[in-house]
Amino acid sequence: MIIRDATTLDLEAIATVSLAAGQPATDSGADARYTNLVLGQGSVVVAVQPDGVVAGWGAARPTPVGAMLSDLFVDPGQHGRGVGGRLLRRLWPGRPGTPGRFTFSSRHPSALPLYAKAGLLPRWPLLYLTGDPQHLPVVPAMRATVVGADQAAAADAHLTTNRERTADYRYWAGSGGTGLLVHDGDRLVAAGAGRHDELTHLTCSGADQDAVAVVAALARVGGSQVTVRLPGPHPMVGELLRRGWRVEDYDLAMTTPDLQLPTTWAYSPGLA
Ligand SMILES: CC(C)(COP(=O)(O)OP(=O)(O)OC[C@H]1O[C@@H](n2cnc3c(N)ncnc32)[C@H](O)[C@@H]1OP(=O)(O)O)[C@@H](O)C(=O)NCCC(=O)NCCS
Repeated sequence: MIIRDATTLDLEAIATVSLAAGQPATDSGADARYTNLVLGQGSVVVAVQPDGVVAGWGAARPTPVGAMLSDLFVDPGQHGRGVGGRLLRRLWPGRPGTPGRFTFSSRHPSALPLYAKAGLLPRWPLLYLTGDPQHLPVVPAMRATVVGADQAAAADAHLTTNRERTADYRYWAGSGGTGLLVHDGDRLVAAGAGRHDELTHLTCSGADQDAVAVVAALARVGGSQVTVRLPGPHPMVGELLRRGWRVEDYDLAMTTPDLQLPTTWAYSPGLA
């Protein structure tokens, strides 16, 4: 088995492994648009067996909040043979706990042990919440508007002191989405991306009271059932659950000891 950098010639093999590992057809390695995005932004590696068949792949990329392991998938027939560990060590070389790293771990039994041995600490569950946007608390001061991808990216960069992610916003727009801005009066408090049944991402200002921005953004997304992925400690989680929203699944945010991920954002598990 060799581990090497991936190229666009590996897109089909990456898609095959991703589907076999239970990934959805879109917004994952099964989707060439997604893999091309991560190929353009970070490191993508594949594990190749002696017969040339790809047994696994992984990807890591810079984000406004740290270096993210976005993908680690091994063909189910090859699980438990050290492939995932080798891919991870290639993507994240150096000693365990090298600062500035994070991932959203699945609940697969091998995932958390691999990341913990790489020096990451489990922090909080990333809750996949689904609910009816008619059942939201009222936040009169906040106003959400639909904007283009580049305008949302510029607002996001403003909120994160110029950490640029235009390519991500264009990717989300290309998946049937739009950019979103949330204002409190004239003050920008959040920027994000959504589509008819999902608030895909929301970057929120650092101020605690701005955590309600997610409610204004959810109301703007539309659809009768909307999904959003929020940190367990997000101040609006209890309120949404009391209004009938449901936790459908969760990942586990894991970070190196130096890193604190914002808990007022909504996250995309692949792109943060
Ligand atoms: C998670 C995944 C990538 C791991 O790949 P893998 O090749 O099976 O993993 P490895 O064999 O390299 O390593 C698994 C490690 O977990 C350890 N492990 C497994 N179950 C464990 C348990 N219950 N307690 C402690 N350690 C455990 C193994 O001992 C091994 O560690 P070691 O190599 O230091 O001995 C793979 O199982 C996979 O694709 N799963 C489905 C998709 C998924 O959930 N991906 C993770 C996305 S965040």
